[in-house]
Amino acid sequence: MDSCQLLCEFQIEPHVPKNFIWPKEYLEDAHEELQAPIVDLDGYLKGNNEATKNASKLINEACLNHGFFQVINHGIDMNLIAKAYDEMDTIFKLPLDRKMSVYKTHGSMWGYSGAHAHRFSSKLPWKETFSFPYYVNNALKPVVTNYFKSTLGDDFEQAGVTFEKYCKAMKELGMMLTELLAISLGVKDPLHFRELFEEGCSIMRCNNYPCCKQPSLVLGTGPHCDPTSITLLHQDQVGGLQVFVDNKWHTVRPLPNALVVNIGDTFMALSNGRYKSCLHRAVVNKHKERRSLAFFLCPKDDKVSPGVESMALNDIFGVETIVINVLNVMWMKEMMKIFNTVEACRGG
Ligand code: SIN
Ligand code: FE2
Repeated sequence: MDSCQLLCEFQIEPHVPKNFIWPKEYLEDAHEELQAPIVDLDGYLKGNNEATKNASKLINEACLNHGFFQVINHGIDMNLIAKAYDEMDTIFKLPLDRKMSVYKTHGSMWGYSGAHAHRFSSKLPWKETFSFPYYVNNALKPVVTNYFKSTLGDDFEQAGVTFEKYCKAMKELGMMLTELLAISLGVKDPLHFRELFEEGCSIMRCNNYPCCKQPSLVLGTGPHCDPTSITLLHQDQVGGLQVFVDNKWHTVRPLPNALVVNIGDTFMALSNGRYKSCLHRAVVNKHKERRSLAFFLCPKDDKVSPGVESMALNDIFGVETIVINVLNVMWMKEMMKIFNTVEACRGG
């Protein structure tokens, strides 16, 4: 059985089943490419001040405008990324009953989810996902490896080890990006955000978008903003990620060695609303299956309680930001409720 198995019964039908068809207003095409910088991290990673300044300037502009940029020379081994895709393919190629045995139950963030999910009665996403947590626990036990073993079985220990490494690398890169973001915001202490994220439980999600006979009627991931802080996404070369800027959908060009970074709602609040958490979606393809690997960097929740946050922001940006900050705190409270109860990509 192939990885399109989940949707194959629909694919052999001449028409997309009705609950996968999105209303017209969601389906407007993207015509332009997003003007998002490609930030070379090499100099920053080597401690070069000039390169760090240049990188943070590019990031600042992108985040003020829409919150999307790509990074290259990020230090992540491309073989590791390739291996993660291979392991992900093996999971999605499992027979449906195996995948259903790790089905993401209502209220849970972790496990397998497919287009046949009962989450939506309409506007179903044309994709399947596998999500799991990443954090460092006190016992220093490998969280991801154990998750894979306990859910998918011992055969998936190696897949767990690969994803453990992948998540560790993404977390490290994410932590470095929090520093660059702090520099780009003009925060006095570049390590300011580090403390919030060090012990957070991040989310890893593998996305598989099978090909679709009528791609213009469906969406792989519906329009949403990421409620988390910073998303590090590797997309394959098929293309499909789109961002809503200036009232239009824009494509994000896939680059083989790059990672797409975007700001989520939590970081928008942490930046006192300066940096944008932008609406985005993923479209699907008629001939090619598309895959992406999304790592959502999350803060430790008690470190982002509104009270602490309010003080921290005033400390950083000064009294003139208090009014915005009060709004942020209210928003933050709402957001933290969502953050703790629903999965990372609402509506997706
Ligand atoms: C993508 O697959 O390109 C994006 C997925 C998402 O935003 O959840
Ligand atoms: Fe997203």
